[in-house]
This record gives sequence, structure tokens and C-alpha cells, in this order.
Amino acid sequence: MNILLLGSGGREHALAWKIAQSKKVDNLFIAPGNGGTGSIGQNVAIKADDFDGIKEFVLSHNVDMVVVGPEDPLVKGIYDYFKNDTQLKSIPVIGPSRQGAVLEGSKEFAKGFMQRHNIPTAAYKSFNGEHVQEGLAFLETLQPPYVLKADGLCAGKGVLIVPTLDEAKREFKEMLGGMFGNASATVVIEEFLSGIECSVFVLTDGTHYKILPEAKDYKRIGEGDTGLNTGGMGSVSPVPFADKEWMQKVEDRIIRPTVEGLAAEGIEYKGFIFFGLINVGGDPMVIEYNVRMGDPETESVMLRIKSDLVDLLEGVAQGNLDTKELVFDERAAVCVMLVSGGYPEAYQKGFPITGIDQVEGSIVFHAGTALSPLPGGEGPGERLVTAGGRVIAVSSYGKDKAEALAKSFQEAQKIRFEKKYFRSDIGKDLG
Ligand code: AMP
Ligand code: GLY
Repeated sequence: MNILLLGSGGREHALAWKIAQSKKVDNLFIAPGNGGTGSIGQNVAIKADDFDGIKEFVLSHNVDMVVVGPEDPLVKGIYDYFKNDTQLKSIPVIGPSRQGAVLEGSKEFAKGFMQRHNIPTAAYKSFNGEHVQEGLAFLETLQPPYVLKADGLCAGKGVLIVPTLDEAKREFKEMLGGMFGNASATVVIEEFLSGIECSVFVLTDGTHYKILPEAKDYKRIGEGDTGLNTGGMGSVSPVPFADKEWMQKVEDRIIRPTVEGLAAEGIEYKGFIFFGLINVGGDPMVIEYNVRMGDPETESVMLRIKSDLVDLLEGVAQGNLDTKELVFDERAAVCVMLVSGGYPEAYQKGFPITGIDQVEGSIVFHAGTALSPLPGGEGPGERLVTAGGRVIAVSSYGKDKAEALAKSFQEAQKIRFEKKYFRSDIGKDLG
């Protein structure tokens, strides 16, 4: 079969790597892809949210399935676009309907959904510009630190955790005043939860589900989880505290009620659900839902799936996921992200990347790379250059986390570009 994968990050390179291992795949296309995905499949110069461009490509290249990497096309309704088009409706899109994508697109909706289905999450209230005084009064009832969330999508930047009441009040008013544009026209204020986070992923066909390997990601730029938030500096799988007993709680209290809740509310959902969880005194609680795989979690989670991912995706599309097999690789998997110096603040792009061909035993997933024409005089051809803040994920297996990390750190030294930076403490907090 022919598969079109949408997106351009490290997550998509890892998905492409796994999809390409399936015997069922004839052609894999990635739109738009990056400097690494082109060596696994065929990059196609179409943006992931250019629905008309995608339609034309799908029809002209006999695409049999579309797998959506990022949230943007899902929130914009790519599932419904296919379903409502006579020429496209028989071609499955792996991802939720527009209504399902609201679980990620609106924090207020997600919180309400969890409340309706008794899914454990932080206590909250939401406010818009007509209820500023009520919001300020609600803040006074909470203990510090204060958690303020823009309702809408803000590329991962819409959550503020503020130490004092005065600051919380000021930030709350600024958010409603347009700090994140329309995305913060409504603000969710919630109770602060203290614990270690864990990302749990599920594939669902709307009725059945399969729980994929869990992972922990590292969001801050600095060692010891300090400094600014990033798109993710590394990940490890498995997560030691997510043992059988804890995962059973996650399934009973969170996963099953979510899948059943979606069905009960008539929300079509055939794709990945990402549960951003926090372990509060041994009990899992939901911090957020995402309607896609995580990045950089995917760069370790895909290594831990032994089964044919495309077979599972067919089960999602056909509604018989319960008949499919999901076998985990028992080894540990990790990823260490190499980023541009300066990131997540201002950084330069366009630095040549060398040394990838010397990497042995680790898997290199490109995130922000591009192929650039050689500068004048160097002859025909292209060279690989940095093209984003997060540049390359170095993923490794090991008999345990320590062995996998040692491997990634060793191989990460071989990849060179100007101002390269990575965190050398990934996974070390987990013991
Ligand atoms: P979100 O975009 O909802 O995942 O929030 C971004 C990050 O903020 C999360 O990964 C947590 O680290 C943190 N966070 C969000 N909500 C809470 C909360 N209620 N208590 C503590 N930390 C939180
Ligand atoms: N790793 C967090 C995310 O993908 O949103």
C-alpha cells in the first residue's frame, strides 16, 4: 500500500522509520518531511495543512492511507475533509475528527470532558474577558504556585506557572488582554499538581484501544530541569514508576473512560491519544490531552514497538484493532536531542552538519535539518544544514536505560555542527 505521512519533525522521521519497516508498504511519502525523511521515503513539497494540495497528491499517487503527525491539520479538520469528499472518503486518515481534536485544541473543553467522565485532573475554573473579577477572586482561593493556561493552541507556550498571587493576577489579566492572541481569550486557572510526569500513548479505533510503550520527556533547556521550556530535549522509555500496577490505574481511571467518553459523546476518533500524566502520590492524574504522538517521545517509543505499525494502523482504520497484535521490545530506548545554541531563544540556522555517517548502533532522527545547495564554486549537489532549534535526535537501545543513554551520548559526540548543545542528564532523575 501507499502511505502519506504528514509533518516535518523528529516525530515524523521516527514514524516514517517504523512505517517503512512494514512489509505492507510499497511507497511512503512524507509531506513536507525534512532533511532525513527523504532517505526513507519520498519527500513531497506540500504543507501538512494544505488540504487541497494533499487531496490532489493522494488522488494522483493512489495513496491508501494518510497518517497525521502534528496536531495542526487535525484541529483544522483534515479527518472531516476526507470524510466529506466523495473522492476521498474511502481513504482512511489516522487521527481524530475535528471534534475529537478539540481535546487538544481547547483546554477548557478537555477539562470539561474529564469532569463529565470522572477522569482525575487538577481542579479548575475557566474565565473569559467578561469574568475578570471572578477569575481574580478564584486565584485568591488557591495556594501558590498558580497555573494559568491559554485555552487555545499556542505551540506549547500557553501555560504559565507563577509563584506569587500578585504576578498571577497580572499575568491572568494580560492573557485575557491578548498575550497569546485569540488563544488566550479564555483562560483556565487550575490547581498546581506536584509529581513526576509521564506520557502515555494509545491507538484507538473509536471502540478498542492498544496502549503503546510509555515515555518521559525532558522539556527544559538546562540540566537539572532548569531554564526555559523547549519542544523537548530527550526522552526515555520505559518509565520506572509506570509499573504494572500504576499502568492498570491509568487504564482503569483514564484510558478506558476517555475512549468510552468519546464514543458516548458521539465524537469520532481513530488515531493516537497522548495522555500527559503526572504521578501524584502514586495516583495518575491528567495534565493534558494531545491528539497525536509526542515529540521527542516518539523517537524512543517507536523503537520499543516490535509489531508492524502499519498492521495496527489498518486495525484503527477498519475498526478491528482488537484483532491486532502489539508486542513491545523489552529493551530500553532513549533519545537525546541535539539543538542549536541559543535555542529556545534566538539562534542561527544554516550551519553544515557532519559526522552522521560515523554514527554506529544508534538511530539518527532528523528534526530541524534541511538540504541546501552547495555554495557557489563547490559544484553540484546538496549538503545537510541546521534548519531549526531542535536539530537531530540520537536514539538508542540498551539492555537498560543507562546503557541506552551511554550509547546515545557517545554517538551524539560524533555529530558536529556549530554551537551544538544537548542535555547530558537525560534520564538521570529516574534512578
Ligand atoms: P500543558 O501544555 O498543559 O502540558 O502544560 C505544560 C507543562 O506545564 C506540563 O507539561 C507541566 O509540566 C506543567 N503543568 C501544566 N499543568 C500543571 C498543573 N496543574 N500542575 C503542575 N504542573 C502543570
Ligand atoms: N513532548 C510533548 C509534546 O509532544 O507535546
